[in-house]
Amino acid sequence: MRYSKRLKRLLFIVAIGLLPLISVGQLALKFTPAEIGKIISQMTSEEKSLIVTGAKRRNVYPAALPGLRLKDIAGVGGYTYPFLKHGIPSIMLSDGPAGLRIAPRRLNDTADYYCTAFPVATLMACTWNVELAEKVGAAMGKEALEYGVDILLAPGMNIQRDPLGGRNFEYYSEDPYLTGKMAASLVRGIQSKGVGASIKHFAVNNQETNRRIIDAVVSERALREIYLEGFKIAVKEADPWTVMSSYNKINGVYTSESSALLDTILRKEWNFKGIVVSDWYAGKDPVAQVKAGNDLLMPGLQAWSDAIDSAISNKIIPESTINTNIARILSLVTKTATYSNYPFSNKPDLVQHAKLARMAASEGMVLLKNNTLPLKKTMKRVAAFGNYSYKLVPGGTGSGMVNNRYTVSTVQGLKAAGLKVDQELEAYYAEYLKQAIPESLKEDSLITAMPKPDKVLDERPLSTELIKKAAIENDIALITIMRVFGEGGDRNPDRSFHLTGEERLLIQKVSEAFRKKNKKTIVVLNVGGIIEMASWVSMVDVVLLAWQPGQEGGSAIADILTGNVNPSGKLSSTIPVKYEDVPTAKNFPGTPAKNPVKVIHDEDIYIGYRYFSTRQVKSLYEFGYGLSYTTFNYSNLVLDRNVLHDSVVVTVKITNAGKLPGKEIAQLYISAPAGELQKPALELKGFQKTRLLMPGESQVIKFIVRASNMASFHTKKSCWITEKGNYTFKIGASSNDIRLKKELRLDNDIVIEKVFKVLSPQP
Ligand code: BGC
Repeated sequence: MRYSKRLKRLLFIVAIGLLPLISVGQLALKFTPAEIGKIISQMTSEEKSLIVTGAKRRNVYPAALPGLRLKDIAGVGGYTYPFLKHGIPSIMLSDGPAGLRIAPRRLNDTADYYCTAFPVATLMACTWNVELAEKVGAAMGKEALEYGVDILLAPGMNIQRDPLGGRNFEYYSEDPYLTGKMAASLVRGIQSKGVGASIKHFAVNNQETNRRIIDAVVSERALREIYLEGFKIAVKEADPWTVMSSYNKINGVYTSESSALLDTILRKEWNFKGIVVSDWYAGKDPVAQVKAGNDLLMPGLQAWSDAIDSAISNKIIPESTINTNIARILSLVTKTATYSNYPFSNKPDLVQHAKLARMAASEGMVLLKNNTLPLKKTMKRVAAFGNYSYKLVPGGTGSGMVNNRYTVSTVQGLKAAGLKVDQELEAYYAEYLKQAIPESLKEDSLITAMPKPDKVLDERPLSTELIKKAAIENDIALITIMRVFGEGGDRNPDRSFHLTGEERLLIQKVSEAFRKKNKKTIVVLNVGGIIEMASWVSMVDVVLLAWQPGQEGGSAIADILTGNVNPSGKLSSTIPVKYEDVPTAKNFPGTPAKNPVKVIHDEDIYIGYRYFSTRQVKSLYEFGYGLSYTTFNYSNLVLDRNVLHDSVVVTVKITNAGKLPGKEIAQLYISAPAGELQKPALELKGFQKTRLLMPGESQVIKFIVRASNMASFHTKKSCWITEKGNYTFKIGASSNDIRLKKELRLDNDIVIEKVFKVLSPQP
């Protein structure tokens, strides 16, 4: 008895002693989901206005707010407002699409907090591997969880409308189906770890120029079929915890202020159950945002909550509206790791994740041209040209960047794979890079601020003698061309899309010198978006589109060059012969040219391969294209019926007909019959990547296509309709390389779904 009393007293003393170590958030008595209604009814209008606006606005170290976790996460994107008295903790939201972005260092802290830089979304889309995307999502989610972040602000899933889009690297594709499927997988992966995803930027945020004011003028059909479709797939298939509304307007209304978009389409039609978060500082009118159902305004400004507070008091915002928004926020809070006091370790398994990043990187690089690879065992000596052969850029700039501990350069990757790199060239570039790398990358700037993106370094002209000597002393030449860009600006056609004079000269001189010696030249494109290639590609023997492959990029490039990995990536967007060939060139980034306020989507639904195939414009490399070191045969295309009712099962056999193991991506396109609505010549309706097939091995793959997946949007009738007639099912190795086809008849029109008449362009 006495013993137990003493023990109790001892425990009490220990508990008191531990108090300062336990976060305030954890101590607070948490509300339960059943209490949400009661809590809301007890809130003042000021409290309500605070809960719907993020807490970062006060610009104070968050621990100063009662209820916030004591240990703030430096560099986190934002956090919600805590209320100790209601038992509401603050939850943390942070970027982004290629991995968690937090500051790697903290004040008065010797530990570090690096994250894994995974390949950018475009590379992930080029894997066409949904299982892999889910694994990457799970790894990103785990890093967020272990660093105490509740919501990962990813994936970005806007359509790559124009090659000059400054954030294209954060997005997947020009095609909504591929976009939706990849995004859904990433979301499933992230959320499998108990961390929420935020699919963004909803919607039609396809450019950076004037992104906060630009009005995207777009037809209802293009909206439904192209710009909303990917989001719809992700919402329906992966149930994201949050959707992030975008900066721009659609047909005259800010997306964050559009109840047509956020309520009618997202909630009523798609049955979205999570919360809508605004993009950071988006929109103009916080009251209109709240009324439209944009639940949480981030990152939070005092002026916003003041305006909302007074609008609640003056009944401009109906009680029921604000209460619904808050109920949604609170029910999201109950799902988070913070709410359940997850004891985050600050120690995610970065070693395992690096292996995954390497694997993913090699699977999404696209081999565009090949007369040489894989390198023969005798080809050991590599002459590496171009600054970025020595300094790979893992991702783009802005909120999509990751603070990773290291990046493996191509040269490091090649050396680790047992190749020899020309030492004279290496020394030449080392000296140049040393003096050219900006001071801002110095270590201690990482503590308080995000490091600045690398400056793009001009290529230093090389003497003809040095190149000639390299051609004598090495077996092969490798040239890297790099492009980096990101949030806040679109690409400049001259400086970013085209080669610079120095780059062109480098390719010319090196390829000539090596050709004279009967040796080959490889070009590696370390780019966040496509570049002009038609004018120089014939000069070189190999082009590997390595994208921005994340921190293990150099190892992944070496894996492909040496044949350790057989490339299996295929393009998720078309590479045109010249920029002027893309259907948006005349309408990007909008009008007036100097300071655009409007961008008219004249091309309507004819984006990317939909345009190139329908209007029969030749591309340089088409959507879905990519080379392998082996070849694949397609056979036995079977549709389980000739006449369509609800759905059809499509099977096809893929055989590895070459000499090396490899994976193939089979693509199912459908050509619709002529009907009342105009249709693109081709539309992607299914894809599958095989497992690694050994030479001679086959795999039968199966697609299930529903009548609803084949529908087009009928603007006048506000419905999705699958029109009668003969549909051609085409199985291709790319959008141009159709290997097999079969017809399927539909006897009567099927109205798939009636929808609301909303978001029409203003007359
Ligand atoms: C970007 C978002 C990002 C947010 C928070 C915004 O500027 O557009 O993609 O999630 O900042 O960092």
